[in-house]
Amino acid sequence: MIPTARTWIEQAQSITILTGAGVSAESGIPTFRGDGGLWRNYRAEDLATPEAFARDPNLVWEWYGWRRELIAKAEPNAGHHAIARLQRRVRNCTLITQNVDGLHDRAGSFGILKIHGDIWRLRCTACGSEWPDHRVPLPKIPPRCQCGGLARPGVVWFGEDLPPGVWRSAVDAASSSDVFLVAGTSAVVYPAASLIPHAKSGGARVIEANPDETPATRAADLSIRGRSGEVLPQLVTTG
Ligand code: OAD
Repeated sequence: MIPTARTWIEQAQSITILTGAGVSAESGIPTFRGDGGLWRNYRAEDLATPEAFARDPNLVWEWYGWRRELIAKAEPNAGHHAIARLQRRVRNCTLITQNVDGLHDRAGSFGILKIHGDIWRLRCTACGSEWPDHRVPLPKIPPRCQCGGLARPGVVWFGEDLPPGVWRSAVDAASSSDVFLVAGTSAVVYPAASLIPHAKSGGARVIEANPDETPATRAADLSIRGRSGEVLPQLVTTG
């Protein structure tokens, strides 16, 4: 299976990669679903919503503060590095990520389509301005904007639209690739998961890398059972 996937990747003129939380699992960042997915018994769906933030911004910020601390201590793993190598090797190689942790950036990936936003950016709920903030821990929770408004994480929550330009570019990349590589996502959160049928209908060969079966498995032309930190380096051996 791995040699076939490697050949498809080597022959492809254009490659699109979609990553999810599983790609950062080997860096010590817990995934949202499965073991270790709960924080103080809350699920992501209980906290990553505009309603949860309106009800209790402190609680939501404590969760994000905890994630920011874990991420700040983490390092990109072999899976992130393999993706960055592939981007350097193939001119037409687009990385789409659902991850907000910035580990792909730190591994050297570029032009990343962050469809769920970025945990290292804050946005004012009053004036709408947005800015980078890498402080860990944040000096005050909840953080405030210069205008005095309440700041929120610069991420996309359940029930919110994805950034339209970024999403359009993601659909275009998925629909026009020869190979679509899906790694470390449960493929249950939409519209992100709809990129897989977009890729298929555009004629891409879909390769999945995940230790578990997911809804993407059925759509995949090849599904490789394994951790991305082990599988992805075997798919990208040069570059
Ligand atoms: P999930 O937590 O739903 O799924 C993680 C996937 O990674 C599962 O399919 C695991 O089997 C797999 N996995 C675990 N360890 C792995 C490893 N070492 N290598 C490869 N795969 C591994 O994460 P996402 O699919 O990213 O959204 O979740 C999608 C969205 O739901 C997130 O972006 C976030 C979340 O709530 C928002 O916050 C809006």
